[in-house]
Amino acid sequence: MSLSSQAIDVALQSALSAISAASNLEEFKAVKVEHVGDKSPIAKLNQSLGKIEASERAEFGKILGAAKAAIGSAFAEKQTQLEAERDARVLIEEMVDVTLPASNTHVGGLHPLTVIKNEVSDYFLSLGYAIAEGPELEAGWLNFDSLNIPADHPARTMQDTFFIEPLESGLVLRTHTSPVQMRTMLTQEPPIFIVSPGRTFRADELDTTHSPVFSQVEGLVVDNGITMAHLKGALDDFAMKMFGPDAITRLRPSFFPFTEPSAEVDVWFNNRWIEWGGCGMVNPRVLETAGIDSTVYSGFAFGMGLERTLMVRQGIKDMHDIVEGDIRFSRSFGLGL
Ligand code: PHE
Repeated sequence: MSLSSQAIDVALQSALSAISAASNLEEFKAVKVEHVGDKSPIAKLNQSLGKIEASERAEFGKILGAAKAAIGSAFAEKQTQLEAERDARVLIEEMVDVTLPASNTHVGGLHPLTVIKNEVSDYFLSLGYAIAEGPELEAGWLNFDSLNIPADHPARTMQDTFFIEPLESGLVLRTHTSPVQMRTMLTQEPPIFIVSPGRTFRADELDTTHSPVFSQVEGLVVDNGITMAHLKGALDDFAMKMFGPDAITRLRPSFFPFTEPSAEVDVWFNNRWIEWGGCGMVNPRVLETAGIDSTVYSGFAFGMGLERTLMVRQGIKDMHDIVEGDIRFSRSFGLGL
């Protein structure tokens, strides 16, 4: 190709129009090879610069230089434009809609018994009670004798209690959470305000309303001037927390060796009285066993089954559903966090 200003102009115009026609970065690359690569018209014209008369070289050099600069800036501008377009497109194409429902995700849930246990603990913590815990494998003395349950009491027979071999160990699987009362009173001075949710064991067959492993929540208050009115008020408020604002409680005279007087507590729920648990004023003998002066202090205690509370409240008909651990059962109660 011979060097002339027309030839330069033709090369320039064809490069500029090819650049402006490039609609994506692929095409842009090809255009670049074609119009500024080694075999491009501009490169060839540049090569022929060496073959012309020295007197003309400066002039053509100038024109060529201007053409190359024009092509260069057209390329740069186009590149910026195409890259911006690509970035914008990628943002849209690769967008993830985080609001789409996921089809296959199983979210874990707490067992409803754990949920209600947490609920009870949170409620009493909010009132200023502390959570107390004791071992499930308990000394017989704490589970029975210290609570004024003598050796010949029916609760101690083989039917109710899981004894631990060797029998001389004196250990049992605790039959109620009341040994935590004694543990607390033996180690703390009044005022005492505790609740103790936990697992308990009795040699019952698993049926629709019983389980050999179940849960109770124990409450204990010991202070100056504690009366049964405090117990009733505490139970009423607890009942409302568990069963809703219409819940009320009634006390029926009963007997527990570790409380005097003792009562069964019923709760009014869904238009009927439900047996909820046991309660009473801490027997002065039990206070004295714990080294608490019963002429100075008095206390109340209560204990109820958590499975029973859950079953009544949620309308669960069969204890098997609670103990069997079928995930579909738990899931129907939601996350409960
Ligand atoms: N421990 C008793 C039971 O398991 C319940 C109870 C607790 C009664 C505290 C009175 C006071 O049946």
